[in-house]
Amino acid sequence: MDVVERFKVNRDKGLASGCISLMEGIPGVDTLKPCQEILKKATTHLLESELNTSRTFAYGPEQGDEEVRRVLASFLTEQYGHEDPVDADKIILTAGATQGAHLMATLLFGHGTTCFIEDPTYFIMHKMLSQDLKMNLIPVKLDSEGMDVEELDRLLTQHKPAVIPEDQLFWSFIYTIPVYHNPTGISYSPERCRALVECARKHKVLIIAEDVYNLLCYNTPHPPKRLIAYDNPSDHNYCGSVVSNGTFSKILAPCFRLGWIEGPDVIVQRLVKSFVAYSGGSFNHFGSLIASSILKLNLLQPHIESLKKIYGRRMKIVCDTLKKIPNIKLSPSEGGFFIWIELPSEIDSSDLMEDAVNNYGVYFIPGACTSPTRSFSNYVRLSISAEPEEKIVKGINAFVKLLQETLSK
Ligand SMILES: Cc1ncc(COP(=O)(O)O)c(C=O)c1O
Repeated sequence: MDVVERFKVNRDKGLASGCISLMEGIPGVDTLKPCQEILKKATTHLLESELNTSRTFAYGPEQGDEEVRRVLASFLTEQYGHEDPVDADKIILTAGATQGAHLMATLLFGHGTTCFIEDPTYFIMHKMLSQDLKMNLIPVKLDSEGMDVEELDRLLTQHKPAVIPEDQLFWSFIYTIPVYHNPTGISYSPERCRALVECARKHKVLIIAEDVYNLLCYNTPHPPKRLIAYDNPSDHNYCGSVVSNGTFSKILAPCFRLGWIEGPDVIVQRLVKSFVAYSGGSFNHFGSLIASSILKLNLLQPHIESLKKIYGRRMKIVCDTLKKIPNIKLSPSEGGFFIWIELPSEIDSSDLMEDAVNNYGVYFIPGACTSPTRSFSNYVRLSISAEPEEKIVKGINAFVKLLQETLSK
């Protein structure tokens, strides 16, 4: 059985038998609970004090309501730390990061495109690109500072087509998660960010940077600078090579289906002028107006502060527990949801997951599922987001017991 199929069988078994999830990168019930009050207050604000019938119940402008974009841009500017302001005119609102990535992949590129992707990466995205969109994925190695840009440079040179159609802004794209990476938890170093942007400019390719976990930083007041901030319009060779793909899913609730793409005018306008936007208008207009009320009532900032404390504590508990185990290596986890563990090479984490579900009451993602090349079979991705603290503690203790028993065999 293929590793992903095997993973799904064991995950379903784990779910059905009430195992603890150290797998899902989703907010759990305890962190979702405050959304009830937040959404109640914001909906009342929108539908009572601020109601403008024709604005609220219409399709909404293709780029997203202008006031919502302004409120969001100023919120993000504050969250990112003011140095690199977000410009409301360079934002298009989306129905979440998945839709944002899908929109760009289909409208700017399309079926069959050769694209470049970190190995390992977000376990669903490489499937979406290769299986839904039939793209040809070129994996690029990742180290603790980010993508191997020398290898990327070589691969881009090797795969560049002889002729690039004139109406194509970019012949390919690089898919990356530069801050609090999924699954490794790393953040790109400033040097690697600069090198990556230079490489994209040189080869005339777009970088789709998923900025999904950035605002969940646990040890610093602000997250690392996002990749798009390294693509400075005043540089002599600037060509608008980076887009930032953000979402409310991890900082509020996935049900909200609201996100944003921040990018150069030419990209944003290409998306805004698409027929999919012409037909449907703003991708989640009503949700975006509620988000605007949430921000105007200052309900999101305290919520994020509370999430940072809750997740930061869980991250510390899990890492401190794992650090006591010899012969394993952990990636740094300063933010986001994930802990990436390297086990001794003889251990197959798909076997480990089966054992975990059958005998230890816990489940996670085997490393090979996150790899377009099916590498990393001795790695594991753990998540601290889906279960409350007492279950995380129970789950990590069960996982440690499993590891100790496996390592001692
Ligand atoms: C890198 C990455 N992109 C996208 C998503 C999904 O985001 P959304 O809910 O906004 O579609 C996730 C969630 O797991 C993710 O880790």
